[in-house]
Amino acid sequence: MSEFRYTVGDGSTDVVLSRAPLSAVLAEHLSAEPATLLVADQNTIELCGGYNGPAVVLSAGEDAKQWHAVATILERALAERLTRDGRMIGVGGGVICDVTAFAASIYMRGISLTLVPTTLLAMVDAAFGGKTGINFSGYKNMVGTFYPASLLLVAPAALGGLPQREYQSGLAEVIKSAMLGDAELFGYLEREHTAVQARDQEALQAIVERSLAVKAAVVERDFSERGIRVWLNLGHTFGHALESVAGFGRYTHGEAVAWGMACALDLGVALGITERRYAARAFALIERYGFVLQVTGVQVEQLLQAMRYDKKVQSGSVRFVLQRDLGQTDVLPVGEEDVRAVLRSRIV
Ligand code: GLY
Repeated sequence: MSEFRYTVGDGSTDVVLSRAPLSAVLAEHLSAEPATLLVADQNTIELCGGYNGPAVVLSAGEDAKQWHAVATILERALAERLTRDGRMIGVGGGVICDVTAFAASIYMRGISLTLVPTTLLAMVDAAFGGKTGINFSGYKNMVGTFYPASLLLVAPAALGGLPQREYQSGLAEVIKSAMLGDAELFGYLEREHTAVQARDQEALQAIVERSLAVKAAVVERDFSERGIRVWLNLGHTFGHALESVAGFGRYTHGEAVAWGMACALDLGVALGITERRYAARAFALIERYGFVLQVTGVQVEQLLQAMRYDKKVQSGSVRFVLQRDLGQTDVLPVGEEDVRAVLRSRIV
């Protein structure tokens, strides 16, 4: 077991990275809790057998990432008379983590939060760093808060049973972490493709630990996304637009982000910013992990329209996270014509 403490905003997040099965990690930590409300989905509740307190069970999937789920959690917290010294515990993927954290952040103006991510995506991204939120009015993560968990329990052994498409979705964020700030992780993903795809335990521990470290290095410097935290959105301006236009759920978040990272590399190359050799290496890695870099069933103008609502729009112009090279990232406003040209080449 490894333990890390990361500074996140005004507080800190203790990360427990365990080699034990998730059920054992949960049994050890949840039984010791004071007044709690557990939030899980129909699948992850089965992992919480040792927990005897109140629980909200949401439907599995992106549909739960709506205001009504937050209201359900808040109503139950009130009914259980959860007080400010109590705790909410979210056990699940990114949706459960985001929704539980959002509810915890507004219940009585903030109650302690433990997150127990059960997917790769949630382990390396959603559960750490304090972003909470729901989809709103058709736009992803449009309403939310910054509110870090005080405790994060991470058991990569749980990833053995994850459906392949969900596992692959998380790998897009792992590749993103490597591109942003870890040349060794990038090389590891290139070299150890077989072990990573086979979900070898050592490989899982390595990619989760290193991805978390990349994210922590960014979030510790810029919690509230006034500067470099925007880097974590590499590929996400394109990716979120794709998810929203195609309909949430048609492409996984990772599929959309992988496609978005390819678009960001294209854009950087077209603008003379991104090293061509680096772009070629990154395209190869993204494709090696099975991501499709051309999408279907969406129109260029629909995607551009969705991007105009991106949270990185400033003074009417969309800013893109672009890379010069591995670990060298910048955020730049880009004209719509350049973006349109990239989109045309990445839609079939
Ligand atoms: N998922 C991007 C961030 O946490 O900032």
